[in-house]
Amino acid sequence: MSAARTVTLQVNGQARSVTVDPETPLLYALRNDLGLVAAKYGCGVEQCGACAVLVDGEKAFSCTLTVEQAAGKAIVTLEGLGTPDAPHPLQKAFEAEQAVQCGYCTSGIIVAAKALLDANPDPDLPAIRLALQDHLCRCGTHSRVFRAIRRAAQEMKTRELRA
Ligand code: FES
Ligand code: FES
Repeated sequence: MSAARTVTLQVNGQARSVTVDPETPLLYALRNDLGLVAAKYGCGVEQCGACAVLVDGEKAFSCTLTVEQAAGKAIVTLEGLGTPDAPHPLQKAFEAEQAVQCGYCTSGIIVAAKALLDANPDPDLPAIRLALQDHLCRCGTHSRVFRAIRRAAQEMKTRELRA
């Protein structure tokens, strides 16, 4: 443990300061200090995916990434993807496909899906499975999740064609 100090994080496009031990897991700072509670604590050891966020565009497990490691990087949480009035196509697709039961895994899965679609806008089922291999869902929503991600990919492609 180190002494608490103030660290500035770039979260969802805003500079946010937290005063914590820099070795604190990013997840705790997001949830307890910044009120961003979409990312969840599941296992704490990179085995469930519930805590996933984007860091410089890549999926990262915020249960093991420290505040110090995340400082200076662009952090995006589920809250930064869309709003209730202007949801991200993935958020809309998860709703349309009813791809949520208890919702505990959902934030991490949507964040992982965002990283996937940014890298591969038209993923097939094996690519989606691979991207989600370290995301557990105890409620068994997997087949709906896969459909939702395909739906979002189609929606994003259609938007691009219209633009
Ligand atoms: S809480 Fe981070 S992977 Fe499970
Ligand atoms: S919806 Fe409950 S854990 Fe996935």
